[in-house]
Amino acid sequence: MKKYLLFFLICTISFAQKKTIEQRVDSVLTLMTLDEKVGQLVQFTGGFDTGTQTSKPREGHIELIRLGKIGSMLNVFGAEQTGKIQKIALEETRLKIPLLFGLDVIHGFRTTFPVPLAEASSWDLELVERSARMQAIESSSSGIHWTFTPMVDIARDPRWGRIVEGSGEDTYLGSMMGAARVKGYQGNDLSLSNTIAACVKHFAGYGAAEGGRDYNTVDLSERTFREIYLPPFKKALEAGVATFMVSFNEIGGVPASANKWLLKNILREEWKFKGPVVSDWNSIGELIPHGVAKDLKHAAEIGINAGVDIDMEANAYNTQLAELVRDKKVSMAVINESVRRVLRLKFQLGLFDDPYKYCDAGREKSTIRSGEMIKSSLESARNSIVLLKNKNNLLPLNKNLKKIAVIGPLANSKLDPLGPWYQQGWPSEVITVFEGIKNKLGETAEVVYEQGCILSGDSKSGFSAAVSAAMNADVVILCIGESLEMSGEAHSRASLDLPGPQNALAEEIYKTGKPVVAVLMNGRPLTINYLAENIPAILETWFLGNEAGNAIADVLFGDHNPSGKLPVTFPRSIGQVPLHYNYKNTGRPYNPEKPMYTTSYMDFPNAPLYPFGFGLSYTTFEYSDLKLSGKKIGKNESITVSINVKNTGARDGEEVVQLYIRDLVGSVTRPVKELKDFSKIYLKAGETKPVKFIITPDKLKFYDINMKYTVEPGDFKVFVGTNSVDLKEADFSVID
Ligand code: BGC
Repeated sequence: MKKYLLFFLICTISFAQKKTIEQRVDSVLTLMTLDEKVGQLVQFTGGFDTGTQTSKPREGHIELIRLGKIGSMLNVFGAEQTGKIQKIALEETRLKIPLLFGLDVIHGFRTTFPVPLAEASSWDLELVERSARMQAIESSSSGIHWTFTPMVDIARDPRWGRIVEGSGEDTYLGSMMGAARVKGYQGNDLSLSNTIAACVKHFAGYGAAEGGRDYNTVDLSERTFREIYLPPFKKALEAGVATFMVSFNEIGGVPASANKWLLKNILREEWKFKGPVVSDWNSIGELIPHGVAKDLKHAAEIGINAGVDIDMEANAYNTQLAELVRDKKVSMAVINESVRRVLRLKFQLGLFDDPYKYCDAGREKSTIRSGEMIKSSLESARNSIVLLKNKNNLLPLNKNLKKIAVIGPLANSKLDPLGPWYQQGWPSEVITVFEGIKNKLGETAEVVYEQGCILSGDSKSGFSAAVSAAMNADVVILCIGESLEMSGEAHSRASLDLPGPQNALAEEIYKTGKPVVAVLMNGRPLTINYLAENIPAILETWFLGNEAGNAIADVLFGDHNPSGKLPVTFPRSIGQVPLHYNYKNTGRPYNPEKPMYTTSYMDFPNAPLYPFGFGLSYTTFEYSDLKLSGKKIGKNESITVSINVKNTGARDGEEVVQLYIRDLVGSVTRPVKELKDFSKIYLKAGETKPVKFIITPDKLKFYDINMKYTVEPGDFKVFVGTNSVDLKEADFSVID
């Protein structure tokens, strides 16, 4: 009885609180003039003073703030700085509505964590949530209320530079990673001063840009759009994400910022999202070059009526909206609804109650680069590393080695390990691979560094020094890959090869006959066929952030057993792109023995270099006893899958156990495999653990021939294993 009473009380209290926010929103709204309403829908960026790390509002924006004509800012941070500006909003505007400060805290604020693609390689949801939590704590201490993350764009084309900002090619993994990040940033209570609002982006389909060129046209079937590209957004919403950002691209002729079907029918009506939608940078203005708006006024009209609540940087709402309302092109109801969403968020963040709570310089000082941040960044970095090859167990290296040559353009780079979108990270606070190895071995070994070459051009002038350093060493650590500028926004590449003369450098170093470990840093899968064939050990480290060198040294010398798995397929040739594990069988499935008249190339195999989900460990795992709880289930029933995993090596280690399914016959074609679950487990040497997965009806659903999201009766295969290729399989059927 007591229990029920308590439950009743909790419901009543939370209902009352909700109502209070709604009432408070309405009470503010009724006081507002049209111009003040429009102001809430306007967002401008701050600018950086040359040579400083402080960003502040630009000329003219302070006056707009005073007039209540700006509701939020991006790229303005710092406890003191944001405090000063907030004071203007609170003391000098008529209605004293607090400002929102947003920033792209993509993988850290000042302490830089691994890039999102790297963290996705950990397949560790708790770790990713913790990392986002730390980033929220650090950035909120510096005045930030809102991060434009997570980016959950599925990317099947590694030419696209922004693949680095997401979780790779898979919808399920991407959905889980996005949700973990949302929970990390927002915590359980958005009104706390160390939680920040998340913004899931870019809604939607942005990663499917034709040819991998950023901002390019996207044309997708509704089925693929709904099954592959939309679910991570839905999952972020279910995790409570506070805001959405639209994408730059069009789909089937409709730019996202003009897409009522996407922003109204799907987001508001089907999904019931209540929070604000922000444009991408000038994406309202870009409706003009897209060719759907004739001028900025027209663009503003289309944007707001399509459902974009906040205009980031296009200066369209600021200059056009009020007139559009007066011209009756935009209704007051539309404006009111958008303003409500913005005000609601400000209330949820607690800004009306305590607008300065993110502006505590003392907290900022003790939080930024705190020991806790650095520890967490190191933990994420270690767990993001993927061991791609380890011939004859070259790794881990013995700590008694006496001479180590650390070679390559990325071996001692202070900047590149930060990765693109490194926000306020300082290169001077980065531990390079060379430094990490020296930290690890102290005086016991002679560790030398040679750059070998740079990342562009074709000069081989540094080769001979690198080769002689290699000749004098017991082992070579060859650090190659991409610079941080080769991926990220507007940084697509038409080649996936190692840039500059790095492949040639690898060949020269290999010829010395010394044991070589390739340490890769890059923001996308690369075509590293030479390395895969010749270099005995390869670590994919992506861009690991501040602690890169320490984390890599921990893995090289066995203080951390790698457990990362690729969140994206590594092709052998750019000609194979897009290449992803969840392809369709086609009417003429590939036959490697007799490729002619099957879906193939005349001059190249179909197989990837490294498949999705692939990654080795210093120990080995054996899978046995795959069992299903039954052979037949009803459409609304679940089935339990169990398997035993044994650590058959001599070291303790972690394994990511992956579960895939295939629907053999459908009313429409289905992928040959779809990841539906995974579990990261820790096994002591020699230990066996049972792993269980439950396949619920939700995991079997898809859009049928009538676009109904449903489970179709029929035969299914279930696969469990260590990557998307090495799998045990079993069968079951769904009956009507
Ligand atoms: C990017 C967004 C980002 C925004 C604000 C845009 O260019 O596409 O991802 O959040 O800028 O910095």
